[in-house]
Amino acid sequence: MNFSEKIIDGKKIAADVNRETAMEVAAITKDFGARPGLAVVLVGDNPASKVYVSSKVKRCAELGIYSEKIVLPKETSQAELLQVIAKLNVNPLIHGILVQSPVPKHIDEQAVVNAINPDKDVDCFHARNVGRLLLGDFSGFLPCTPWGVMQLLKRSEIPTAGKHAVIIGRSNIVGKPMMALLSAKGADATVTLCHSRTPDIAAFTRNADLIVAAVGKPEFLRGNMVKDGAVIIDVGINRVEAPGTEKGYRLVGDVAFDEVAPKASRITPVPGGVGPMTIAMLMKNTVRAFHLALKH
Ligand code: GUN
Repeated sequence: MNFSEKIIDGKKIAADVNRETAMEVAAITKDFGARPGLAVVLVGDNPASKVYVSSKVKRCAELGIYSEKIVLPKETSQAELLQVIAKLNVNPLIHGILVQSPVPKHIDEQAVVNAINPDKDVDCFHARNVGRLLLGDFSGFLPCTPWGVMQLLKRSEIPTAGKHAVIIGRSNIVGKPMMALLSAKGADATVTLCHSRTPDIAAFTRNADLIVAAVGKPEFLRGNMVKDGAVIIDVGINRVEAPGTEKGYRLVGDVAFDEVAPKASRITPVPGGVGPMTIAMLMKNTVRAFHLALKH
């Protein structure tokens, strides 16, 4: 396999998923005279979050999904945010609600997430939906980033059954739900979850057939931590200072790509790997949310 064939092209695979979603949205619009709708709530002015939120709204427009972007000042109280959620919960135009993470420190994020109507929880962060995920009930929502990773693997024909998958990072957004999906019936991987208190992460990653790096540390996974032929999925998107460039920063993943890529059998780039898939799966969840609303 030549070098370019190693690269898992998240942009292309996300475009395929988005094309499917656009067709589903068109069918819904024709059959029901209504559109799936997504509300994206941003509290504060985190620069990365602003970019993500704008990308989500833009993608909605491209696929024919109705969207509302609600931007609240960073001083917004938890009570005020809960009021916004309560209104969206009963808004018939809105089928999916997403509160961009992280929220300012004075707000209890999980309390806010648990106030979202679980049938509108397109992030799959609500306690009910996380519980269903662990129970192996995949009939509702799936968490966007881990689901995006599973789709990258599936659509790249990379098998997971019987493989040793090592996840680095135990976040609620990526690490923990990734563990649930990779170890679920059908995916059938054996999963090791490493985190900041794991003494010797390299001892685990060197034995991995598949590594999912989701630690949020630039270029954390080095070449000497990976066995030949491993599949590498890089979930990290870190801004590192780059003086003299137009933006003043560049994006790097959690994987030292130049060191790891020569050893890997397949690898995702940053950007253009997992990132586009996360939004593509969010759009799919918004369509699912529309169908859930029909049932009630
Ligand atoms: N922040 C980083 N990733 C995500 C995500 O998938 N959803 C939300 N709501 N916030 C995020």
